[in-house]
Amino acid sequence: MSEKSLKVLAVIGSLHSKSVTRTVVHLAADRLKTDGCSVDILDFEHEPLALYNPDTAHEGDVFSALKVRVERADVILLGTPDYHGSISSAMKNFLDHFWREFAGKLFATIVASHEKGLTVTDQLRTVARQCYAWSLPYGVSFTEGQDVKDDQIVSESFQKRFDMLVRDTRVYGELLARQRHADLHGTEPGFLARLRP
Ligand SMILES: Cc1cc2nc3c(=O)[nH]c(=O)nc-3n(C[C@H](O)[C@H](O)[C@H](O)COP(=O)(O)O)c2cc1C
Repeated sequence: MSEKSLKVLAVIGSLHSKSVTRTVVHLAADRLKTDGCSVDILDFEHEPLALYNPDTAHEGDVFSALKVRVERADVILLGTPDYHGSISSAMKNFLDHFWREFAGKLFATIVASHEKGLTVTDQLRTVARQCYAWSLPYGVSFTEGQDVKDDQIVSESFQKRFDMLVRDTRVYGELLARQRHADLHGTEPGFLARLRP
């Protein structure tokens, strides 16, 4: 994988051992890799992250290693189940650990829901805004059994939205990564000026 390829951090926001969110994030990761992106998958089932505590969260080897992975990413692909119309606690816990590292990057979102997951998508967009990140102008959601079965996408409608998300993540991710790099190394007064090295 070239140093120049788009770097995607794909985050699985479910700890469920048979998570359908995990299935779809992996399907998206595979497609992005086929399209030339480098994809790092963050799965809290295998890499537990302690509950965010502002007094201690930014200390220790686990946080340092994770920070490097978040910093390296151009795009953050977030997959979460719909829990009570909200993002999962695992996803919220991850997001609470960072903000500066998200600034100027693209969030792309996938929600597992029985009800379209609109409020969940909106919450992820709110986090993006608060952290000065961009988000795609839409999110995708799917329902287990109906859209995804036996680790495969089985509905045409979700397949279309999935293909759109994968394509837009790569294309807009590349555009924004280029501009972010230029702004971090430039002299104009954009929102990234305060994050210049
Ligand atoms: C605690 C909890 C709350 C849930 N709340 C909702 C909800 O409000 N709306 C909904 O559509 N599905 C809800 N669900 C169902 C999950 O979103 C759904 O089963 C999803 O596919 C689980 O994804 P996972 O297998 O990746 O964990 C809830 C599930 C759990 C465990």
